[in-house]
Amino acid sequence: MLALTIMSKTIQAVRGMKDILPAQMPYWHHLEDTIRHILESYAYQEIRPPLVEKTELFARSIGEVTDIVEKEMYTFADRNGDSLTLRPEGTASCVRAGIENGLFQKQIHRLWYKGPMFRHERPQKGRYRQFYQIGAEVYGVTTPDIDAEIIAMTARFWQQLGLKNIVLQLNSLGSIEARKTYREALVNYLSQHSLDEDSQRRLQSNPLRILDSKNPDMQTVIQGAPVLLDYLDEVSQAHFETLKSLLAALDIDYKINPRLVRGLDYYNRTVFEWMTTELGSQGTVCAGGRYDGLVEQIGGRATPAIGFAMGIERLIALLEQYQKTPSVQNPHIYITMVGDNTISYGLRISEFLRNALPQLRLEMNCGGGSFKSQFKRADKSGAQFAMILGEDEMNKQQVGLKFLRQTEQTQTKEQLNLSWDELVNYLSEFQY
Ligand code: HAM
Repeated sequence: MLALTIMSKTIQAVRGMKDILPAQMPYWHHLEDTIRHILESYAYQEIRPPLVEKTELFARSIGEVTDIVEKEMYTFADRNGDSLTLRPEGTASCVRAGIENGLFQKQIHRLWYKGPMFRHERPQKGRYRQFYQIGAEVYGVTTPDIDAEIIAMTARFWQQLGLKNIVLQLNSLGSIEARKTYREALVNYLSQHSLDEDSQRRLQSNPLRILDSKNPDMQTVIQGAPVLLDYLDEVSQAHFETLKSLLAALDIDYKINPRLVRGLDYYNRTVFEWMTTELGSQGTVCAGGRYDGLVEQIGGRATPAIGFAMGIERLIALLEQYQKTPSVQNPHIYITMVGDNTISYGLRISEFLRNALPQLRLEMNCGGGSFKSQFKRADKSGAQFAMILGEDEMNKQQVGLKFLRQTEQTQTKEQLNLSWDELVNYLSEFQY
């Protein structure tokens, strides 16, 4: 009995991992196409690293004492006993792939990627355990011109997607040495105040993350803490000043947020986040910064780097708010067939049409049915035309074409009877 109950229980998706259904795909395609087009126009090339990497890669790059590595990774032993991890982000993989394939030998390399990432976080609106990112990384440039170009490109994403009210927050973390000095000052300050449990735990391991605490009881302590920007080394200071003037020249607004520290350890100098207030607490839609030391740390030749990644689900949620009716990719023609041998006739015509007009979307009525039920399905499919193939049409080597939806071009309501060639001529008049 128990076995039966277990067997009949429906299996659901893993918590925090969701299906992206056909009705949502127009948004996804629109977003992915727009972003890809812009990335290519800035000379980025796509890379597709595997979804699984050796655990050590993430531990060494993101940092042993970050939330991601400490408690959010999907880590498992594979059959050889190697510790592997489902990637929680794409930067580490890009660095590994770049070193392994000798990509950084070339002076400058602009790479981009998209795909799912995995983090075992507490799921909520805008925060998932499998989520999609589109990210971009640039290797080989130390100067702030690339920081400015990257930020300008992300601003272009929002503008092209018609997304408003996304605000840029900017900070500089300085050099690794400057951060060490700051860290000492911060620990010194924090040790003199009462901290919540989480912050006490982080005091020695990762004190900068305490500045990110959302606990209201911690806010007064955080407000009074020393500010990283006051500890910047001269070179980082100059880098930051130039970046700010380049952004001003490009008319890009930003807000300096001295408490922006990011949750991954590899950053230095510029860090930024694009945030919206329209998505509740998960408002960061894009985040990134410089990580000049990472390539060398992972075993490559010293190579400066900068990049960012966007949370696609969050951007889609914004798109859905702005654009109420997505253009679903309905078929142009639904093919109905009734009568002996009409199925092979229909298949032949559809293949002929696909050769002649490759942009055309055709949906064959598979699975039979009466003329009435097929016509109902044709209507439901959202197609512009129903093609009617009966024995009569087949014997005359013709097709019947009936309009299901009227547009300016389909004023005639009568059914058209056309030869195969006439059909191609007729359909080629339309825009696909
Ligand atoms: P990140 O801030 O961890 O940075 O993630 C980037 C973006 O991914 C976030 O701003 C957010 O939009 C989205 N995101 C993160 N976690 C989730 C989640 N659980 N559910 C939904 N969306 C999420 C990175 O991943 C760095 N690799 C970015 C980077 C590239 N820095 C330099 N290069």
